[in-house]
Amino acid sequence: MKILFYDTKSYDQDSFTRELEHYPDIEIKFLKADLTKNTAELSHGYDAVCAFVNSDIGTRTVEILHENHVKLILMRCAGFNNVDLETVKKYGIRILRVPGYSPEAVAEHAMALALAANRRLHKAYVKVRENDFSLGSLMGFNFYQKTAGIVGTGKIGAAMVRICHGFGMKVIAYDVYHNPSLAGIADYVSLDELLSQSDLISLHCPLTDDNYHMINRETIQKMKDGVVLVNTSRGALVKTDDLIEGIRARKFFGVGLDVYEEETPNVFEDRSDEILEHSVTARLLSFPNVMITSHQGFFTREALSAIACTTLENVRTFERGEASPNDVNP
Ligand code: NAI
Repeated sequence: MKILFYDTKSYDQDSFTRELEHYPDIEIKFLKADLTKNTAELSHGYDAVCAFVNSDIGTRTVEILHENHVKLILMRCAGFNNVDLETVKKYGIRILRVPGYSPEAVAEHAMALALAANRRLHKAYVKVRENDFSLGSLMGFNFYQKTAGIVGTGKIGAAMVRICHGFGMKVIAYDVYHNPSLAGIADYVSLDELLSQSDLISLHCPLTDDNYHMINRETIQKMKDGVVLVNTSRGALVKTDDLIEGIRARKFFGVGLDVYEEETPNVFEDRSDEILEHSVTARLLSFPNVMITSHQGFFTREALSAIACTTLENVRTFERGEASPNDVNP
């Protein structure tokens, strides 16, 4: 089995190369370029391609993969909102993902962002480096005995519920499905109730057509004044212009974002030498209460090793022709 890996960094190559010794019949070629309609042609001669969160697996990309006889798309991530699933299905290409590699990795990062935004750690770090030991503008509030509202209680949301519970917070949650493992530590409420009661709101649902821009002017107005909002899920859950309007209206005590709408050209790239023309990111970062990281929630040793292991097991599953819970298009 020959697999072309797109959009790889040295840490991807390290984690996969380590696992590969258990899969001698799998041959991997690592590419730096991401998978798009312009790079899909490179898949000629490969049985499978492996892509990541910001790959552009739209209609034309899938058509080219099909023309090149690619039979398997391996997503080395949980999300797949960047894939044209209908076209993938039409051409009988199988697509397998890694649904839960380390929920705690993302949930712990969500709490890190919540704490950093609340206690202004991003500002405190810079101040102390400049020998400014004053506390002006650094005052936060206790999470203890406040209310955490968790939107989406799958694997990551459930881990976040447990963390917030451990902080001594009252935890409320909104999800279309209720997770029985959270009985006794979180109470399910409607989205409106969650918005109006929470001091900390953390988003953990996948991006779908139904929840695109679920955080918008109308839903922001329903939130408590002084709320902390954290998004480690997908950028387009939040309408950025409305978020900026809300920040300007002093709605938020803090905002922590690991994902944001215009992240695609930025994710995992060093653009420090570039002059960015229209950067909403820069506008968001101009606010003292906003903390942004670049899609690093998943980025722990444990998660990378689990991603490599599950992706290569997905290859085995494909080769054996078995069904799998990791199928995106079952
Ligand atoms: P999961 O599939 O275990 O759970 C998602 C939950 O969201 C499910 O319980 C589902 O019922 C619920 N849901 C779906 N639509 C909803 C809606 N409109 N409102 C409320 N709940 C809704 O997924 P998991 O593993 O917990 O991942 C959640 C998301 O986190 C992923 O879809 C992905 O977008 C994001 N993610 C971010 C990472 C990062 O590095 N920042 C890494 C991995 C995942």
